[in-house]
Order: sequence, then structure tokens, then C-alpha cells
Amino acid sequence: MTARGLFLTFEGIDGSGKSTQARRLADVLRVQGREVVLTREPGGSAGAEEIRRLVLEGDPDRWSAETEILLFTAARRDHMERTILPALEAGQIVICDRFADSTRMYQGLSRGDLRALVDQLHDLMIGREPDLTLLIDMDPETGLARAKGRQGSEERFEDFGPELQKRMRQGFLDLSQEYIDRFRVVDGNRDLDAVAQDVADIVLKAL
Ligand SMILES: Nc1ncnc2c1ncn2[C@@H]1O[C@H](COP(=O)(O)OP(=O)(O)O)[C@@H](O)[C@H]1O
Ligand SMILES: [Mg+2]
Repeated sequence: MTARGLFLTFEGIDGSGKSTQARRLADVLRVQGREVVLTREPGGSAGAEEIRRLVLEGDPDRWSAETEILLFTAARRDHMERTILPALEAGQIVICDRFADSTRMYQGLSRGDLRALVDQLHDLMIGREPDLTLLIDMDPETGLARAKGRQGSEERFEDFGPELQKRMRQGFLDLSQEYIDRFRVVDGNRDLDAVAQDVADIVLKAL
């Protein structure tokens, strides 16, 4: 797979500012005349958006941990086939709000140690990492407070609570060491513009 575009992902705990910063970055790059595809997971293609509803809505116990990993992987496969790879092959910049690292964390850690299973399925069915991953690092309490301000029906994972948020924050920081070449850690505990400036500096340098 020799795609010409650039594949960027935003990762971090809930409420860290990923969606906000992904939009800001897309705006910055479009103003420069670059072709940008702003997308998200789970979802990002018609089929994957249908799977999104299955994994984010309804009873927290509706899927076993293993089934849930399969659903996330199925959604990602469709998203890769239909949205991400075609855009990269056309030389576009893909900005994805969450990707496989979120599955490594949430599905890999929160319901037992299933990280190896997540990685095996990733190798088998996805087989590609982002070129650059922006980890918005954030104090878990602040993140929770920000996330609580949102309303919606996608609440299957909303009861994660402060303890899990703390574990996830550390897990993401550990992941940034594991994949040190593609991760950049940005301090999200600052105002929007300061975070956006760091993100833009990192991405423009990478381009
Ligand atoms: N740096 C920031 N300072 C203050 N509020 C922020 C900041 N970044 C995002 N927010 C707000 O916090 C909430 C969560 O941000 P969002 O981008 O949705 O986070 P995520 O996608 O990581 O869950 C939103 O209401 C957003 O407007
Ligand atoms: Mg978001």
C-alpha cells in the first residue's frame, strides 16, 4: 500500500477536545488550499455509521467484549475501504477523529486484557497505522466535566467514570511511547487557540 496522502488521527480521552481540534485543523489546511477529508470513528462510511449505532447506543451489556471488538473492526474495515484509502490514494489529507488506538485502549483495556486480540484483528483486517497521531493529553476530571456538557443518545460508554478515565489517560500516554515514531502529545489543558496552534505547528512540519 503506497498511498500518497497523509493519514492523521486524533486520540485521547472523552472530552479532551479531539473533535474540536480535528475541525480546526481541517479549516487551517483547507484555507491553505489542501484537500481534506474530515472523518471519525466509529463511523466515517455509510456502513460503519450503521455499526456506530450498534456500538454506541443501547444497553451497556448488549455485546460481549469480544463481539464488540469484532464490530469495531468491521466498522473500521468498511471505513478504510470506502473512505480512508480512496482519499489517501487521491493524495488527500485524511483527518480521523479516533482510530485503532482508541480500540486498543477502550476495547483492549476496559473489559479485561484484550489488547492482544485487538492487535491480532487489526493486523489481519486493517493492517495500516496512521502517519501521524495527535494525542490530546488531558486531566481526566476536566475531560469528564467537558464531556458531560454534551447531550445525546450515544451513551453506551458514558458511565466510564473518573477511575477508568484515569487509566485511559495513562494508557494513551503509554501507547505514545509504544508507537513513538507516529505519536505527538499535545497538552489539552489549555485554551482552544493554544492547543490548535500546537496542532497546526506539528502537522505543518509533518507536511
Ligand atoms: N481547550 C478547550 N478549552 C475549553 N473547552 C474546550 C476545549 N476544547 C474543547 N472544549 C469543549 O469541551 C467539550 C468537549 O470537546 P470535544 O472536542 O467534543 O472533545 P472530544 O471529541 O475529545 O470528546 C466541547 O463542548 C468543546 O467545545
Ligand atoms: Mg468527539
